[in-house]
Amino acid sequence: MRRSWLTRALHALLALAVTHQLLVSLVMEEPEEGEAEGLLFELHETVGLVTLGILLAFWLWTLVRRDETPPGALFPWLSSARLRELVADTGRHLAALARLRLPEYRPAAPLAAAVHGLGLLAVTGSALSGFAWWLGEEGLLAHGLAEAAEEVHELFGSLVWAYLVGHAGMAVLHRLAGHDEIGAMFRLGPGGR
Ligand code: HEM
Ligand code: HEM
Repeated sequence: MRRSWLTRALHALLALAVTHQLLVSLVMEEPEEGEAEGLLFELHETVGLVTLGILLAFWLWTLVRRDETPPGALFPWLSSARLRELVADTGRHLAALARLRLPEYRPAAPLAAAVHGLGLLAVTGSALSGFAWWLGEEGLLAHGLAEAAEEVHELFGSLVWAYLVGHAGMAVLHRLAGHDEIGAMFRLGPGGR
């Protein structure tokens, strides 16, 4: 499947921004009551808001583009036909794993696409909960809601870590098995496949 230049550019920006957010969260310090925000904390907030913008563009493009992974493949949960394909593809993966083999690569395969959709939801939940927390700090959201958003942000943060490690790990495994999907996905400029 050919991926458009815009899909590849938005994916590269998203991967960069999310990895940045996760790494900075490891070293930044949350200010105490009345204390000024540190540089890394401000960086996490600012790049977090930019990430929200990149995500909005990614979602809009995913919904309007043609001849690429369809939204129904990323979110198969409400279609019985898609769910049947997902079960069959999961069986194919399990059978390959039982033989200690990597399943043959198929573009927009049901299982991979469904996992990509879940990753997109986790990252979106993370950015939205961070945004809600920030609105609370700016006095634009009730204190109780902002505190709940902080808890949710921590939960989504762990999900995004798990997704990034699993997703990038699978991409590297496929690369080692001889399918250069990383090269295809991160190739900038027009063209690509
Ligand atoms: C996709 C984008 C984002 C990711 C992946 C992300 C990830 C994380 C992670 C992993 C943590 C550490 C949580 C923990 O202590 O266990 C964190 C903390 C934090 N993030 Fe984000 N973040 C994102 C966007 C944002 C945005 C948009 C804001 C606000 C403008 C924000 C504000 C904060 C704050 C204030 C904390 C410290 C409070 C806390 O522990 O929850 N983040 N973030
Ligand atoms: C947390 C940040 C990331 C998110 C939210 C994300 C999300 C996605 C999504 C939604 C797709 C499917 C795109 C489509 O079918 O149109 C995708 C594909 C892909 N991503 Fe990521 N990605 C992230 C980071 C990365 C990183 C760091 C790598 C590099 C190792 C990577 C490598 C790939 C590859 C190779 C594909 C194509 C997979 C295939 O053809 O089946 N991604 N990603």
